[in-house]
Amino acid sequence: MKSMVDLSHEFLKPVLHKQAICVDATLGQGKDTDFFLSQNVHKVYGFEIQRDVFESTKERLGNQRTCFFHVGHEHMEEYIHEEVDAIIFNFGYFPQGDPKITTQSSSSVSAVRQALNLLKVKGRMALVMYPHDTGKEEAICVEEFLKTQTTIQVQKVQNLLVDHCPYLLLIEKRR
Ligand SMILES: C[S@@+](CC[C@H](N)C(=O)[O-])C[C@H]1O[C@@H](n2cnc3c(N)ncnc32)[C@H](O)[C@@H]1O
Repeated sequence: MKSMVDLSHEFLKPVLHKQAICVDATLGQGKDTDFFLSQNVHKVYGFEIQRDVFESTKERLGNQRTCFFHVGHEHMEEYIHEEVDAIIFNFGYFPQGDPKITTQSSSSVSAVRQALNLLKVKGRMALVMYPHDTGKEEAICVEEFLKTQTTIQVQKVQNLLVDHCPYLLLIEKRR
């Protein structure tokens, strides 16, 4: 079966095209940015708070189609001044790094709110959630926030048989 990350990419694919503007809200080593670039999109914005991770991904993937910022995604509205077609958040911590440096409930909710503001009507956003120890509260807070929104449709994709494993929130902006 496909991983949640693969499923998130499949969900985003229909809104990716030559003029598409995309956001990788948790750049890490750039696998999601790699995916966006492989779809020949126009531009990818990326946000990452860890300097070493940021520098090495920028070195590897930086080009005329990328705009990377060493700043938290909770500031994205200060850095993006155009509507976007597709956004991905892959929450949690850098797999090869310090698990204490991880996304946090309040900044994650703030970032998701800003991302919804930036998203075009019919644009899509995928959230890969990790409801393990530290990610559990974050997952609850993000879901509670999404339930208050009236301009989106949201579907949840999860493994029925395994507790606390990654799951997906798939969002499309209706109006
Ligand atoms: C699960 S990893 C992302 C994996 C990434 N998408 C990839 O393909 O490698 C989560 C990343 O989010 C970063 N991060 C944590 N808090 C952040 C924040 N407030 N803004 C942006 N990035 C953050 C972490 O440093 C980590 O690199």
